Amino acid sequence: MRISVIGCGYLGAVHAACMAKLGHDVIGVDVDAAKIDALSVGRAPFYEPGLPELLKEGVASGRLRFTTDLADVAGAEVHFVCVGTPQRQGEYAADMRYVDAAVEGLLPHLSVGDVVVGKSTVPVGTAARIADRLATEAPGTTLAWNPEFLREGFAVKDTLHPDRLVYGVPQGDQGEHARTQLDVIYADPLAQHTPRIVTDYATAELVKVAANSFLATKISFINAMAELCEETGADVTQLADAIGHDDRIGRKFLNAGLGFGGGCLPKDIRAFMARAGELGADQAVAFLKEIDAINERRRVRMVDLTRQVADGSITGKRIAVLGAAFKPNSDDVRDSPALDVAAQLARQGADVVVTDPEAVENARRVHPELNVTTSWEEAVEGAEIVLLLTEWQVYRELDPEELGARVAGKRILDGRNVLDPVQWRAAGWVYRALGRP
Ligand code: UGA
Repeated sequence: MRISVIGCGYLGAVHAACMAKLGHDVIGVDVDAAKIDALSVGRAPFYEPGLPELLKEGVASGRLRFTTDLADVAGAEVHFVCVGTPQRQGEYAADMRYVDAAVEGLLPHLSVGDVVVGKSTVPVGTAARIADRLATEAPGTTLAWNPEFLREGFAVKDTLHPDRLVYGVPQGDQGEHARTQLDVIYADPLAQHTPRIVTDYATAELVKVAANSFLATKISFINAMAELCEETGADVTQLADAIGHDDRIGRKFLNAGLGFGGGCLPKDIRAFMARAGELGADQAVAFLKEIDAINERRRVRMVDLTRQVADGSITGKRIAVLGAAFKPNSDDVRDSPALDVAAQLARQGADVVVTDPEAVENARRVHPELNVTTSWEEAVEGAEIVLLLTEWQVYRELDPEELGARVAGKRILDGRNVLDPVQWRAAGWVYRALGRP
């Protein structure tokens, strides 16, 4: 199948490379010339395990090409819209300008029979609006909505082996055509018995935000329990293990700690609240406000705990922050809890050094005032307190004896509940964590 992918950010670049891997002929389009230059020579513009190999393979095969010229999409039969929908400045709502620009830009290049497939996360109602636009400006084309559920760090695997496929399509022949084309594109995962749900636009759009809202709720639920554990001396990790054995609840996404960040969960729940408000259904998702607030409180709590461990004052104290990315195996620092805590500590007068294996460049761009280094050894040299805020494997495996020999004070705060308190205390460390005695 000849496919175009509009927008080569996280979602688009991975989608384009994976579609080429599935045997399709793919052209990726982005307005950012530097990004297109990198992708064209098989270089990933961000850190994602497995993506560079896939890009190189696709580019070498000739099935994967990139361009800044939208006119080059002509000839493709299916056009995936993969542009971002960030949070609008100073508001909860999503910024739809990139989606709208992509659709408007596509219109002159569409032919009868083409299918436009939205993958971006959008407020419910967007697909119906775009379908109307296509009906008047590009008659004979069809819109489908096919939300994406990939996780950063596992993006390639999640795209090649998704746990479900959702198609939002119109009724009748047009819908049938869109479904058939998508079935051809996803023939491989479908042959592996990936569940496929064919539905209407609104359901497809809602599936995406409902899924992310549920995940955010699960994380904030366990972090709310952590708050209670802190008041009572209970241990939230044992609590999570115990309730997680009930398979109706499940242990996944019940890791208490510094909470969620990234380019999706925080902005998606806010955009959902904004959209529900517009629909007059704000009460239905009013709980998300609390989910967001619990999440933000964890960051404040981490700063307070640091002050407590620093005997009441962090001013001038040397603090090493392990982790800047919003989660391990990513260089993404969008709404990163770790970086947020580091910046708050620095603002309050601490002498902070942040380290991360991959996200240092991005951290420097967002917080030029912070002292950052890729070397954890350098970051911990002479530190009076160490904060583990993003659970990269290399930090999880730190040896308390070795680290103890490098720091000035053996005090560690485990913001992700990944270290063994018994082992660290036995090595003479003051060990504190969120939701643990
Ligand atoms: C999330 C969803 O998991 C994907 O399914 C979805 O496709 C994606 O958003 C999206 O909308 O594009 P992602 O943002 O890559 O994926 O990250 P997650 O793995 O969901 O983690 C989000 C945050 O929650 C991270 O900051 C992580 O540290 C935190 N988290 C996760 C916890 O604090 N506790 C947990 O138990 C799990």
